[in-house]
Amino acid sequence: MFRLAVLVCGMVSVNAVYIWPSPQLDALEALRWDQSRNGVTNLVQPCNDFVSAGGAHSGRSNAADWIRTAFHDMATYNKTSGTGGMDASIRFAEEQARPEDPGDGFQLTSAEFVAISTRYISVADALAAGTVLAIENCGGPEIAFRGGRVDAAEPNAPGVPQPQDALASHIAAFARQGFSQTEMIGLVACGHTFGGVQQSVFPQIVPVLNDPNNTQSVSHFDSTFATFDNDVATEYISGTTQNPLVVGLNDTTNSDKRIFGSDGNATMLSFANSADLFSSTCAELLARMLDTVPTGVQLTDIIAPLLVKPDDLKLDLSVDGATIQFSTEVRLWDLPKGNHTVLLLWDDHVRAVSNVTLSAADVETASGGRYTASWFNTPILTLRAVAGITNMRFSVDGTVEDQGGIGFPVQDTLMWSKSTCFAFINANTIGELYVAVRNTVTPTRVYVEIPGRDNVSRPIVTAVDLTQQPMTINATYTIWSGQVTNKFTFLGIGAEIDGVTVSRDDLRSNNNFAQCAV
Ligand code: HEM
Ligand SMILES: *[C@@H]1O[C@H](CO)[C@@H](O)[C@H](O)[C@H]1NC(C)=O
Ligand SMILES: *[C@@H]1O[C@H](CO)[C@@H](O)[C@H](O)[C@H]1NC(C)=O
Ligand SMILES: *[C@@H]1O[C@H](CO)[C@@H](O)[C@H](O)[C@H]1NC(C)=O
Ligand SMILES: *[C@@H]1O[C@H](CO)[C@@H](O)[C@H](O)[C@H]1NC(C)=O
Ligand SMILES: *[C@@H]1O[C@H](CO)[C@@H](O)[C@H](O)[C@H]1NC(C)=O
Ligand SMILES: *[C@@H]1O[C@H](CO)[C@@H](O)[C@H](O)[C@H]1NC(C)=O
Ligand SMILES: *[C@@H]1O[C@H](CO)[C@@H](O)[C@H](O)[C@H]1NC(C)=O
Ligand SMILES: *[C@@H]1O[C@H](CO)[C@@H](O)[C@H](O)[C@H]1NC(C)=O
Repeated sequence: MFRLAVLVCGMVSVNAVYIWPSPQLDALEALRWDQSRNGVTNLVQPCNDFVSAGGAHSGRSNAADWIRTAFHDMATYNKTSGTGGMDASIRFAEEQARPEDPGDGFQLTSAEFVAISTRYISVADALAAGTVLAIENCGGPEIAFRGGRVDAAEPNAPGVPQPQDALASHIAAFARQGFSQTEMIGLVACGHTFGGVQQSVFPQIVPVLNDPNNTQSVSHFDSTFATFDNDVATEYISGTTQNPLVVGLNDTTNSDKRIFGSDGNATMLSFANSADLFSSTCAELLARMLDTVPTGVQLTDIIAPLLVKPDDLKLDLSVDGATIQFSTEVRLWDLPKGNHTVLLLWDDHVRAVSNVTLSAADVETASGGRYTASWFNTPILTLRAVAGITNMRFSVDGTVEDQGGIGFPVQDTLMWSKSTCFAFINANTIGELYVAVRNTVTPTRVYVEIPGRDNVSRPIVTAVDLTQQPMTINATYTIWSGQVTNKFTFLGIGAEIDGVTVSRDDLRSNNNFAQCAV
């Protein structure tokens, strides 16, 4: 409780820390803070890595591509009409074919974040989180991240500024997006501390470089193209910059020169004089860029890390229905180094309290090493089905962590039965699915959920209904069963109980489901 209180009062941004569990917030929180597990951070480590082609010697970098993609996605925003903005419309081939969106970076980046998106994480949320993670892990400031962006169903109207546009046009474009002239200078400098201009995309701006460490001939905006720092400003002010949009031979395309100089260099001078000011200004402007969304989209509060977060909770009913296999992990935020005694205490339906000691697993860092996340695991526990499990608390070195008295509620109403198995028949994988429903509830419908994509790559789930099996006398759970063909990547479970839809995809099986007995 003490640690929870510290978080609520101590965060710079005022946010209620949400109550676990919450499927969408749990997923967003993991994407934002579980750096070693989120499938995103590894794509920008090292920061000059370019995953798609050429690796660290290409002169390109995923980090730069992501930041530019986020800007181009946002830059269609029209604050008067409330249309455009961060909605992943940049993933449409029609936008990528526009002169304002040249190169293959948008296509590559979109594919990466479509792959990260899930029913709880839109492509636009994934891209926004990727931008935050890239900047934070490559020397940049911590950036407030919110979730809840909604993916567009079709391309937005054009609106991304281009290097040959006049200054007045740039000022107007940023004003349409909601940024003043000073903020425009800041946002361009914040973006152009990464990456550069590619020869293949802008042959009229960049020559072939013939550099084995820059195989794609990218003329970088500053001498540290994969690091967030104020070099973009110090080099500009000192007159040593090689920024191709400042010192390019054709002045028409020197947009950074016109933008940076548009207030007599005042803003750039302030950035050159203070790395801290540059950093804090960028944190604010980039968060606003990412939070620029169409009217009607409601973003979440800033996603702060839960100090105590159960994860990967697993419950399975045994084949005979008598026992439940249960295990969980818990992530403890910023635990001091050293040995810790972590216990899980849990309540059940027969009013007993049990406990087990967890073992320490990995320790990870987040936000470029600012925080640590220490993971602890329970062993796989065998619970009597009748007893089940209703609520959890953790004891960390003797201090009870219970979400301010609420505990960490666990529902054991719906879970996989261990009878679930897969068979390989005529080159098809047939899944025989068995879901257990606790007899305290009487659902009108039970189904499994199969993840998929709609025709514009948005994550969706489709349901496959199950059939109730005859009840076994005195059993704690009733089994519902059904079959699926070639769809077994990840299955959630859902039910309609008293008119309420209950959906769970946090319950993984303790073991991968077995092959069916013949
Ligand atoms: C008037 C405004 C802007 C213009 C005219 C402009 C222009 C350009 C151009 C021509 C490139 C080269 C792209 C390529 O070779 O593929 C580029 C790259 C880039 N831009 Fe901008 N930009 C502007 C604003 C911004 C903003 C606001 C951000 C982000 C906050 C940003 C982030 C980037 C990044 C990270 C790259 C490097 C991409 C890479 O190396 O793959 N730009 N920009
Ligand atoms: C922005 O939206 C307003 C209101 O619909 C419209 O009048 C204006 O032309 C739009 N601006 C641009 C640049 O499209
Ligand atoms: C390429 O990078 C390596 C390692 O940073 C450096 O030792 C080498 O001199 C560079 N080569 C060129 C041609 O710049
Ligand atoms: C400079 O760039 C502009 C815009 O791309 C182009 O129209 C013009 O022909 C270029 N001028 C020269 C001298 O190459
Ligand atoms: C801004 O700084 C650049 C680089 O030092 C310089 O070339 C330019 O003349 C300055 N512009 C103004 C308006 O002072
Ligand atoms: C922590 O535990 C390990 C293994 O049990 C032990 O070797 C080590 O001495 C302990 N460290 C401290 C600081 O107690
Ligand atoms: C854990 O369970 C054991 C055995 O039932 C009991 O003796 C012990 O007091 C419990 N510990 C806590 C912290 O409740
Ligand atoms: C996607 O499906 C919807 C109907 O569900 C349809 O209106 C739309 O035109 C389709 N879009 C594409 C790109 O096929
Ligand atoms: C069901 O439970 C009752 C009461 O505990 C017991 O008398 C009966 O034998 C049980 N029936 C079966 C089939 O297990």
